[in-house]
Amino acid sequence: MVTSENQKTYMITTFGCQMNERDSETIAGMLSELGYIEGSSNKTADVVIINTCSVRENADKRFFGTLGQLKKIKEGRPDFVVGVCGCMMQQQHIIDEIKQKYPWVDIIFGTHNINELPKLIESVVSEKTKRIEILEDGGDIIEGLPAKRLYPFKAFVNIMYGCDNFCTYCVVPYTRGRERSRKAEDILLEVRQLAADGVKEITLLGQNVNSYKGTEEIGFTELIYMLNEVEGIERIRFMTSHPKDLSDKLISAYSECKKLCNHIHLPVQSGSSKILASMNRKYTKEEYLELIEKVKKTSPEIAITTDIIVGFPGETEADFEETLDLVRQVEFDSAFTFLYSIRKGTPAENYEDQIPEEIKHKRFNRLVDMLNEITLKKNKAYEGRKEKVLVEGLSKTNKEVYTGRTESFKLVNFESATDVSGKVVDINITEGKTFNLFGKLV
Ligand code: SAH
Ligand code: SF4
Ligand code: F3S
Repeated sequence: MVTSENQKTYMITTFGCQMNERDSETIAGMLSELGYIEGSSNKTADVVIINTCSVRENADKRFFGTLGQLKKIKEGRPDFVVGVCGCMMQQQHIIDEIKQKYPWVDIIFGTHNINELPKLIESVVSEKTKRIEILEDGGDIIEGLPAKRLYPFKAFVNIMYGCDNFCTYCVVPYTRGRERSRKAEDILLEVRQLAADGVKEITLLGQNVNSYKGTEEIGFTELIYMLNEVEGIERIRFMTSHPKDLSDKLISAYSECKKLCNHIHLPVQSGSSKILASMNRKYTKEEYLELIEKVKKTSPEIAITTDIIVGFPGETEADFEETLDLVRQVEFDSAFTFLYSIRKGTPAENYEDQIPEEIKHKRFNRLVDMLNEITLKKNKAYEGRKEKVLVEGLSKTNKEVYTGRTESFKLVNFESATDVSGKVVDINITEGKTFNLFGKLV
């Protein structure tokens, strides 16, 4: 039994998307099984793991910045273990750079062999060696890995891994490998167990969840219908779906599955059919708008959010205007907006007509202004409504108020005299702002 003085601790820093957050939960679970507990600072931790993202240049920079800060700690404490993993490690030029410029890194592993971490840590600790283990592509899905989840009442559930879409700007198909789906029965078992543990909301994760293939008979929509029956689960969400695979069946699931939240995140990327073709998105502006029309017809109250890239190579002012026009027509509830960033190894890296930074920034600001205006209008329309909110806890920025999400994924702040964390409560919305709603507990 370890005493508190020699209790070993770990720290995990996670960059990137929900897949990485979910992977970090697995890493935390494995470290707990090795006898480590979560520490409070990198300075005192025995093991630090950095889980990286390579989706945009910014993500690379933040990683190398964090790595730089660890050098001093390593100099003072040679036994301190530094491990790096995640999407960046699936790129050879990154591994080369780490070996050359950051020799204090002890363990490098990738997205396909997280399960090997305990073995790697043990060999580094006992043999004082360095270990670099990367698999080029994912093999069979490994079930039953432990996880230390971030929240007790909501959970991420991976349903598939990898991406076969090869959008020309995107690095994910290279860092996460080919699409692989988990068996429906394994997912069902996990969700039942989560419900038994008190989880109320699940978010099904995958780079393109609607190409999930459990069996011939069980695709993504069938999986939702199955999970809709799990007692104890009150809300089902998913991230992310690709417009080209959004079926009529899935659209009707919104009206038929009570637990499926009335929110869809449907990345459009651009409003110009020319740019969409050059991005290899496999739909046109008109097809996207038709889909949105169908979705709104079936579920008039649904919140629609999206991702948009500004300044993809070849984007003219007229193409950008098409994006603004699409945004105006759809009236997104909110959107993640990105400046196009060149990613090594992707087709668009070599496209001519890269857009100058200054133009990209100007367009970006115009887009964000328009989106904010629409979001505010949409949020104001919530004033006077009663909404069911799953409470996450006290707000991180203002400890006087609780924070939670409506079914439509709107962030709501409200006061409460008692701790309502983890509960679904009724809130009368009193004010809609650009980034959140305010309300009163009923
Ligand atoms: N699989 C998800 C998204 C994964 S990446 C999907 O297809 O919906 C999240 C978002 O990052 C993308 O939707 C895209 O908008 C953005 N993105 C990806 N690569 C990018 C790049 N090279 N430059 C700028 N934004 C990028
Ligand atoms: Fe990247 Fe496109 Fe796959 Fe999304 S669908 S992960 S944007 S390649
Ligand atoms: Fe980033 Fe990898 Fe996710 S590149 S966005 S962490 S899949």
